[in-house]
Amino acid sequence: MNSINPTSTPAWGRLLELKEKHKNHSIYSHFDYHGRFDQFSIRFEDIVVDFSKNRISDGILLALMDLARECGVHEAIEEMFTGGAINKTENRAVLHTALRNRSNHPVYVQGKDVMPDINAVLAQMKKFADQVFQEKWLGYTGKPITNLVNIGIGGSDLGPVMVTEALKPYQNPNLSIHFVSNVDGTHLTETLKKVDPETTLFFIASKTFTTQETMTNAHSARNWFMDYAKDESAIAKHFVALSTNAKAVEAFGIDLANMFEFWDWVGGRYSLWSAIGLPIACAIGFDNYEKLLSGAYSMDEHFRHSAFERNIPMVLAMIGIWNTNFLGATSEAILPYDQYLHRFAAYFQQGNMESNGKYVSRTGEKVNYPTGPIIWGEPGTNGQHAFYQLIHQGTHLIPCDFIAPAISHNPLGDHHQKLLSNFFAQTEALMKGKSLEEVKAEMNKAGKSVEEIDQIAPHRVFEGNRPTNSILVKQITPYTLGQLIAMYEHKIFVQGVVWNIFSFDQWGVELGKVLANGILPELEGDSEVTSHDCSTNGLINAYKQMRKG
Ligand code: F6P
Repeated sequence: MNSINPTSTPAWGRLLELKEKHKNHSIYSHFDYHGRFDQFSIRFEDIVVDFSKNRISDGILLALMDLARECGVHEAIEEMFTGGAINKTENRAVLHTALRNRSNHPVYVQGKDVMPDINAVLAQMKKFADQVFQEKWLGYTGKPITNLVNIGIGGSDLGPVMVTEALKPYQNPNLSIHFVSNVDGTHLTETLKKVDPETTLFFIASKTFTTQETMTNAHSARNWFMDYAKDESAIAKHFVALSTNAKAVEAFGIDLANMFEFWDWVGGRYSLWSAIGLPIACAIGFDNYEKLLSGAYSMDEHFRHSAFERNIPMVLAMIGIWNTNFLGATSEAILPYDQYLHRFAAYFQQGNMESNGKYVSRTGEKVNYPTGPIIWGEPGTNGQHAFYQLIHQGTHLIPCDFIAPAISHNPLGDHHQKLLSNFFAQTEALMKGKSLEEVKAEMNKAGKSVEEIDQIAPHRVFEGNRPTNSILVKQITPYTLGQLIAMYEHKIFVQGVVWNIFSFDQWGVELGKVLANGILPELEGDSEVTSHDCSTNGLINAYKQMRKG
């Protein structure tokens, strides 16, 4: 990938002019044109993406697409899909798309087609997942497995958690799935209270198989199991490994026959499509897991082959750049109107922030423009009663993605109509707002005194003009969920290319890990610690005092 400072492109200059030209145009004023929804929405299979409620004109959208072209996005897409080593700082290809390449056309990494290896692991996953899902995988005492426990963290946890929660209606009701990620002993202890060693299957999920949190939890889980089973040979029925590191898996004591492999060109936060997805396949069945892959593949094809202006991930990415780099937004909220999607924002917090939380350009200088925004969110309508106040009337500009299914898996009375009425109302309210005149007229009609109106009215004004995208999906199924995940993955990718950063490394998580490893032995014994700054020394020594009781 070339290194191009986006601010040096002609399109960037044009966008600055357009920002100035449109500074007094509200989003709502654009709706004088009644064709705006048709122009600024895209329907793709069972998904409608409406981006008309943004501070954009057709000129702005065209200039944004020019920016993408001038930054080499088209070439970067091809490089990613064809196995180029675009993760330069780790000298790796980025091929989560190959994991869901349902066409099965060859994909080459350094001259080797990776599809045969991918298909072999998928076949191994199918065989195993079928047995577990159909309750034929038996524990060492002959009882069927009833509890699945995934031990992993970051990308080896968040994807399987988010997807199994999102697809709960598809789960085998006789199988419970649990996730242990935190090295805080509470997480494992509380999980183990709920399960029985004879009927529990552990997935030790770690790309590197060296991550401190995961390996600590894995060893403790193994000890808990062995205290009960007292037989090493029982491990084979209760522990499987999902990893790229066969040596470490073997050293841990897991038979390589129970290892599901993936490869260094699968980024941790893009790994639910790999062997890391095995607990998903066991919980919802392999057929459904394949539908998840197929959904992602359909979005890959749409992304790779659609014209930029009609390309959902591209449009979302470039509008995000408009909001971040031209309108000054520093965060983005993801607001699913679906309880099953309650971990969706958390999942893309890692997906986005670990990918694009970078200040160094592809040529190693500090960038002179903002990059990845802060990602956060909760399901509506809970968010409405918690933080929407700030989105409506606060001083920050917070672009929001509203996501909702048209059909609920739980059609209970009029719950879904009520939920969706909120979904529609919020984006309208955020766009239109409410003027002082409207508030005064309303209060007047309600019989309020002039003094009260003068005093209270300003507080009840909504400026409006707050940008949103609405993503309406027919129903959350394995297929549409796969599409939604791939949509956001590609949005993140495009933004990383335009921001001229490397989206597929995560050096920023290293320093804390290294320092923690240095501190760990210092926490032994009672001797005073003096090797750090006075704050860190003070805290460590206070901790040592406190733990004496
Ligand atoms: O937090 C850093 C990170 O490397 C993530 O990118 C990754 O998803 C997570 O740790 C877990 O890594 P592993 O799968 O190797 O245990």
